[in-house]
Amino acid sequence: MRKSWVIGNWKMNGSLVENERLVRDLLNQASFSNCVALCVPFPYLSQVANLVNGSGLILAAQNVNSHSSGAYTGEVSVSMLKEMGVEMVLVGHSERRQMFGESDLSVAEKAGALVESGLTPIVCLGETLDERESGLAKQVVLSQLAAVSAHLGAAGLAKCILAYEPVWAIGTGRVATAPQVQEVHAWLRRALAEIDEVLAQKISILYGGSVKPVNAMELFGCVDVDGGLIGGAALNSADFVAICQTPCKQ
Ligand code: PGA
Repeated sequence: MRKSWVIGNWKMNGSLVENERLVRDLLNQASFSNCVALCVPFPYLSQVANLVNGSGLILAAQNVNSHSSGAYTGEVSVSMLKEMGVEMVLVGHSERRQMFGESDLSVAEKAGALVESGLTPIVCLGETLDERESGLAKQVVLSQLAAVSAHLGAAGLAKCILAYEPVWAIGTGRVATAPQVQEVHAWLRRALAEIDEVLAQKISILYGGSVKPVNAMELFGCVDVDGGLIGGAALNSADFVAICQTPCKQ
């Protein structure tokens, strides 16, 4: 049985007042069908760490630098995040790959630094619309996975969560269909099985890209989908709660 997750990615949104309201709304729920984590902007980690303390909600960050310390102005290290109570970190989100020039190698190095310190990387993979329309989706996601797997090996990969996020579905309202999502998740799981059968069965693969309460049930119903990475809908407590309460099939 794999762990199922709903992970909220707040991106560059929030304020002290809004964060508190949102987290308190989540804490008012008795329980969720999935494990729940929140990827919070750096300045608010401490605020949200205090709010979620002891609740079972997991504190996560949106980025990290792979170096342990030094002259990297504006960057944040794994040990800093760990000290703030962070347990999971997004790596390779498409916004970082596209807008901040993150390469497959830098994504792999970040994942490696996190695993080494006992934090969980949430490794994001996904093709652009051009790549999908040129029939390259499979090649792209598998090569993104291969870069991480080459760096981490099977044992390191087993400590990761994967999130398939087609770039064309992120923040666009254009959600991938359940068959499209299942197809890519099955490619990923098959590629993992070639590395290690047990790993393939154990690793959680989430879907992200315009997940809303209305489509969560169908997406989470796919056999190889173990929950979702949620952007826009994670900023609305009623929507996010509804998604957290949507069970995964497996
Ligand atoms: P979205 O974002 O749900 O707003 O499409 C998903 C993500 O970027 O992780």
